[in-house]
Amino acid sequence: MSFKILTAAEAARSIKHGYVVGVSGFTPAGTPKAVTAEVAKIATEEHAKGNPFQIDILSGASTGESCDGALARAKAMRYRAPYTTNGDFRKAVNNGEIAYNDIHLSQMAQEIRFGFLGKVDVAIIEACELTADGRIYLTAAGGISPTICRLADRIIVELNSAHSKNMMGLHDVYEPLDPPYRREIPIYKPGDRIGKPYIQVDPKKIAAVVEVRLCDEARDFTEPDPITDQIGINVANFLAADMKRGIIPPTFLPLQSGVGNIANAVLGALGRDKTIPAFEMYTEVIQDSVIKLMREGRIKFGSTCSLSVSNGCLDEIYNDMDFFRDKLMLRPSEISNNPEIVRRLGIISMNTAIEVDIYGNINSTHITGTKMMNGVGGSGDFTRNAFISIFSCPSVAKCGKISSIVPMVSHHDHNEHSVNVVITEQGIADLRGKSPVERSHAIIENCAHPDYRQILWDYVKLAGKGQTPHCIQAALGMHAQLNETGDMRDIDWGKYAG
Ligand code: COA
Repeated sequence: MSFKILTAAEAARSIKHGYVVGVSGFTPAGTPKAVTAEVAKIATEEHAKGNPFQIDILSGASTGESCDGALARAKAMRYRAPYTTNGDFRKAVNNGEIAYNDIHLSQMAQEIRFGFLGKVDVAIIEACELTADGRIYLTAAGGISPTICRLADRIIVELNSAHSKNMMGLHDVYEPLDPPYRREIPIYKPGDRIGKPYIQVDPKKIAAVVEVRLCDEARDFTEPDPITDQIGINVANFLAADMKRGIIPPTFLPLQSGVGNIANAVLGALGRDKTIPAFEMYTEVIQDSVIKLMREGRIKFGSTCSLSVSNGCLDEIYNDMDFFRDKLMLRPSEISNNPEIVRRLGIISMNTAIEVDIYGNINSTHITGTKMMNGVGGSGDFTRNAFISIFSCPSVAKCGKISSIVPMVSHHDHNEHSVNVVITEQGIADLRGKSPVERSHAIIENCAHPDYRQILWDYVKLAGKGQTPHCIQAALGMHAQLNETGDMRDIDWGKYAG
């Protein structure tokens, strides 16, 4: 079958106000870039004429500037799920302009299948190759593409020659059946292949092919600094000690590593710590640091949902497939993050917190409880089911005005029942086997910044006795203080006493 070749602008014209649009990709990797940017232009034109124009976006995770950024600026998005990192989108969400539903990433595809998110009108899929019989070969991410391709009324393929055809063969496309017919997902090792290297669709559903040559809109990460370096060293020391005392087997266990600057620093430190053997990853995002460690022989294999790497690093992979082909596998997000597999493989999860409370509850998403940062991403998929779940963060933010260790988190993403270890540059709080009161002592003593230790001990005194002691009026007192004077150190617990 031959497909209709359209420009991005022509293809965008088929997307109407009120449509639910599913997009490929996971992070800026593998996300369509041309059609969504044209949809944003149409929205701007329609708004200028006084006409409504907004669509819903369903994605695997964050997208790139040409999707979330352009659509948010054009006020072209009514609703979006799940995770995103775009600054303009964040502003619009925190102004209440976009309905944002922050769903665990492993659940996204099945929630679409279950019908929770409405009917998908169009899927826009970035591909490196498309065959006449409807085989779509994805680019740098798995995301929710298999599900949206199957459920969407129509598919627009962005055939992107900036992605090498060498990508063909790296994907393992597998979609589980839904209850009551679901069976076990037969992955017993990170490298087990269970699906096909392409998505098979009915070629008649492909409404347009848009030929482009556009690089992924990769994000920059800042280089590790002394604080993130120390966090990395603390994580590596913790894992090495757990292996030495026989908790982690000598062959080690697969690692999951979150996104962002801290995650990069943690991986760097793990790579340098030669007491930890070369390891495998079963994770959702592979960043540049993983590729570097593969080159150095420190990481043997990586199962991931996306290659969220710099463009230079992606070219390096494409140009040396002989080296990388048996070391990388890309999966849809509901498989890369699947709780069943996380628990079966015994994955060690390493994610970043915005704030941690003295009992081990975690806020990963909201600044002072109200302003959305990015979203929960896959951190919940892994944390709840991990062999050991670790959260790390610097002990303070904004030049010490904010303590990351607080009496009570101002928003709750991961609870004390799922969190095993908290690590800051100050040290390690191993929460395993501890009661809430014991946990609070470990967290304050080992993880809080010295400027805040006494403040937190004074809160503990105020909270008094109990199983999980709290002074409810004061529990968010440090946040209230931040809102009032801009510095949590100004807190005076005296006003809550008596
Ligand atoms: N109060 C206010 N601001 C805070 C804060 C706090 N308690 N803690 C951190 N911040 C700010 C930092 O100052 C920084 O601000 P800036 O961008 O203005 O410099 C920003 O939050 C990011 O923090 P940083 O220390 O650079 O960490 P990061 O880049 O590693 O990101 C998260 C941290 C938590 C935002 C990020 O990891 C995330 O979105 N996590 C949730 C999703 C997830 O875990 N996914 C992985 C699953 S596989």
